[in-house]
Amino acid sequence: MSYKRVVVTRYGGPEVLKVIEDDKLPAPGSGEVRVKILATSATFTDVMIRKGKYPGIKIKPPFTPGYDMVGLVDRLGPGTTRFKPGQQVAALTIIGAYSEYLCLTENRLTPVPAGLDPAEAVCLVLSYVTAYQMLYRVAKAKRGQRILIHGAGGAVGTALLQLGEILGLKMYGTASRAKHALVKRLGATPIDYVNEDFVKRIRSLTASGIDIVFDAIGGDHFKRSFDVLRRGGKLVAYGFYNAVMGKGGSIPLDFMRLQLWNLLPNGKSTAFYSIGSLYKKKMDWFTEDLGRLFELLVQKRIKPVIAARMPLTDVVRAHELIERAKISGKIVLNVSSTAG
Ligand SMILES: NC(=O)c1ccc[n+]([C@@H]2O[C@H](COP(=O)([O-])OP(=O)(O)OC[C@H]3O[C@@H](n4cnc5c(N)ncnc54)[C@H](OP(=O)(O)O)[C@@H]3O)[C@@H](O)[C@H]2O)c1
Repeated sequence: MSYKRVVVTRYGGPEVLKVIEDDKLPAPGSGEVRVKILATSATFTDVMIRKGKYPGIKIKPPFTPGYDMVGLVDRLGPGTTRFKPGQQVAALTIIGAYSEYLCLTENRLTPVPAGLDPAEAVCLVLSYVTAYQMLYRVAKAKRGQRILIHGAGGAVGTALLQLGEILGLKMYGTASRAKHALVKRLGATPIDYVNEDFVKRIRSLTASGIDIVFDAIGGDHFKRSFDVLRRGGKLVAYGFYNAVMGKGGSIPLDFMRLQLWNLLPNGKSTAFYSIGSLYKKKMDWFTEDLGRLFELLVQKRIKPVIAARMPLTDVVRAHELIERAKISGKIVLNVSSTAG
């Protein structure tokens, strides 16, 4: 039986993504499970990987991208014990999920509670786990603290807002004006970073400063985020949006600066969060945190903001929309239906 998958043919723009057809389904090896993928997503992280600008991934094109997936167990390899055919599962694949079928070792799969929409469930795997681990494991946010979220209308931004609301945080979020109604609805004070200086605005809104800033913009932006912290506050850096989009900043220099600022005797600190690195070191944390997020989704305490549901074959358009920052929340790519 043949199946479709997307390939990054060379590093570059959205046009390097091609849908191809392979003649034969992959066979699960020992300890592996073959998953029929129902949903994956298009995110800025996939854009970085497609451009060859994602620290830590050394794979060269051609390869199949796709950082997250929800699917159905399709075939069990020898020696597997944890899953049954037909069971719904999720995984942080990092690469490989833009495909109708994928084999993974069974320890990488997390069960998805019955009845959840695969499109909503897949939003939790990368974007919400990132938000959750930064809030709970890195910043250890406490009720009543003030947080500033940059890119608050994006996939991670909207996840941070929903989880921040549950934690009872006082929230501020930078976003372009078109996303302000959403940021406000999710409980934060929106700041129009395009037309105003967020540092001045934060100073006018809070006398003592911010407890935690979440910044994936990078370059000089990190310094400005550091400046709005109160004594004892923390900058959680987690991306390099500007460097990837050719808007300034250097990834190695940014890393060095973050470490240097940690040594300053001003009571402020920095941390860099990477879901990929933490996943390698602490897969049990990932499984536990994703399980907790599935519970919150079952209880309807969170509701992923889905900007669009598109077929996998529209992957080029999906990546174009992400790069033009045209979407609020997340783009889900529908891969297969549950039937058949
Ligand atoms: N370290 C990790 O483990 C990890 C995990 C997931 C994601 N990330 C990173 O986190 C970032 C966000 O990911 P995402 O999936 O949420 O992306 P996304 O959905 O594309 O959202 C990012 C949004 O940031 C906004 N933005 C751009 N420049 C800005 C600026 N100067 N100030 C404030 N907002 C700005 C844009 O919207 P508007 O301009 O319209 O407001 C853009 O849509 C990316 O850099 C991604 O690589 C890191």
